[in-house]
Amino acid sequence: MEFSDISTDISEVLFTEEQLQARLAEMAREIERDYAGKEVLIVGVLKGAVIVISDLIRELKFHAHIDFMAVSSYGASTQSSGVVRIVKDLDADLRGKHVLIVEDIIDSGLTLAWIVRNLELRHPESIEVCAMLRKPDAIVEDVRVKYVGFDIPNKFVVGYGLDYAEQYRNIRGVGVLDPAVYSDGDPHA
Ligand code: IMP
Ligand code: MG
Repeated sequence: MEFSDISTDISEVLFTEEQLQARLAEMAREIERDYAGKEVLIVGVLKGAVIVISDLIRELKFHAHIDFMAVSSYGASTQSSGVVRIVKDLDADLRGKHVLIVEDIIDSGLTLAWIVRNLELRHPESIEVCAMLRKPDAIVEDVRVKYVGFDIPNKFVVGYGLDYAEQYRNIRGVGVLDPAVYSDGDPHA
């Protein structure tokens, strides 16, 4: 059976699997220190955060509970509108919990800002954000991100959970998608 190797669609590797894991371990040490003696609930937004969360929780040396939500942005615009609908809500009651939202990437930050505001209404004890990657545009909506893996240039990247048209999430590193792959479309669409 023939198949095409998806890694050949990457024009530039930004981070190898080893670099991502090394940085994630550093972030885990910070999180362990900051949440010492507390119980943390790690909240992921589907689907991109699945990979970073599965690696992060196995790096943490304390009990890490996880929960997921799924959202969709309103509007046909290819840019994030910041107006969000919850498609799948969390199972957990957040009252009195220390919530850590873990994201794959923060681009405009609009979606994340909406999620933070929404979760704050549920009376958690605390709420912080951890993102593996952050783009410079993240300043559009100033969300307080306590833990950041890497700041990256404003290029469309895939791998480590990040997709283009639901593809490439399963690449172990992070790379710039060869623009030839989406020459007929907008990668954010
Ligand atoms: P925003 O921060 O509300 O603009 O939206 C962030 C979301 O856009 C992320 O959770 C990703 O799903 C997607 N996104 C932004 N930049 C990229 C990228 O470079 N590659 C893949 N997905 C991206
Ligand atoms: Mg996406």
